[in-house]
Amino acid sequence: MYLSREEELVYLGQRGESLRRAMEILVALGDIFDADRLIPVKSVQIAGVSFKNIGEAGLEWISDLKGKVVVPSILNPAGMDLSRWHEMDIDDNFALKQKATIDAYRRLGIAIDCTCTPYQINPEIACFGDHLAWSESSAVSFANSVIGARTNREGGPSALAAALIGKTPFYGYHLDENRIPTHRIDVEADLKGSDFGALGFLVGRTVKDGNPLFKLSSRPTLDELKSLGAAMAASGSVALYYVEGVTPTPPEEYGEPEKISVDRKQIDEVYERHPGTDADIVALGCPHCSKAELNRIAELLKGKKVKKELWVCTARKIAEGCPDLVTRIEKSGAKVICDTCMVVSPASEHFRKMMVNSGKALAYIPGLCGIEAGFGSTEECIEVATRRD
Ligand code: F3S
Repeated sequence: MYLSREEELVYLGQRGESLRRAMEILVALGDIFDADRLIPVKSVQIAGVSFKNIGEAGLEWISDLKGKVVVPSILNPAGMDLSRWHEMDIDDNFALKQKATIDAYRRLGIAIDCTCTPYQINPEIACFGDHLAWSESSAVSFANSVIGARTNREGGPSALAAALIGKTPFYGYHLDENRIPTHRIDVEADLKGSDFGALGFLVGRTVKDGNPLFKLSSRPTLDELKSLGAAMAASGSVALYYVEGVTPTPPEEYGEPEKISVDRKQIDEVYERHPGTDADIVALGCPHCSKAELNRIAELLKGKKVKKELWVCTARKIAEGCPDLVTRIEKSGAKVICDTCMVVSPASEHFRKMMVNSGKALAYIPGLCGIEAGFGSTEECIEVATRRD
């Protein structure tokens, strides 16, 4: 990979050990994927924040780094709500390690907005055509597909390296040739809400790391697109999709993609195969809830009391921006949880079965939390959380 004179000096350690280590990661990645050079990135989103995932070795690696990031950089969800972790039954030792991890990131100049939906708190962080180095799979999918920005799915270390250097190797989804639709998905059903999570759950398993192009009969909302992309990134490893007439369009020239159709019966089967009525916890907000989703949850909870644990996960800045909605939701006994989520927090492991309205959480919870997962619409989830058993 070609390096400019300055990049070469960084690589040789002339700008300090931390930058040398960061550049070493980027050059190794570039060499593996045959990148010809580094390109500047507009922003970075860094995974590897929950102490549950990174452990002692990760904390040590981050703590050893010196210097400051040179582009706007924010974090993925941590393992706990950073102020209300006691209410999540997080043990003191974990909390100590999690806080040390956050402090290490803070020292590097990284914004402590722990969210998988950075575009919901700052639309300027990624715009059409921008090159990014983002980590979290649903955020990557949203950035590539809905915003029309360009990012590979970075690992925690490569994202952090990109934040310190301000650049990433030019390969993968940064290039037109890798943004060509591979499958055409005709959806013969009217979908709404969590149906998009079910659709993503099905399609991700089929297309794996392909770039599906959807033809839908109705126009999805931004939250529905967020849910679709998140589910495909989890059940498969889709990092880019298109919806005809809705998202930015694919590069002009491409061949005939493989055709797949999905009907209502297949969507309904996702719900039927994953019942959630016997769950002992209900969790909403994967990806993190938008203000519109919080508003819907508040409406559904009006006049009700939860009979089992109900978590509503969102970004702290979203919650702080609508305190009335948070109060209305929490009046029911539900908890609005910030900075973390049901998948990356060890608190989920205290339960037996979690009901979710998210295709991504449905795909991840059994493997990453070691508990059962059930799936339902937001309405069904609220019904289960507020029903007396
Ligand atoms: Fe976000 Fe956690 Fe889901 S990081 S996409 S809420 S698994």
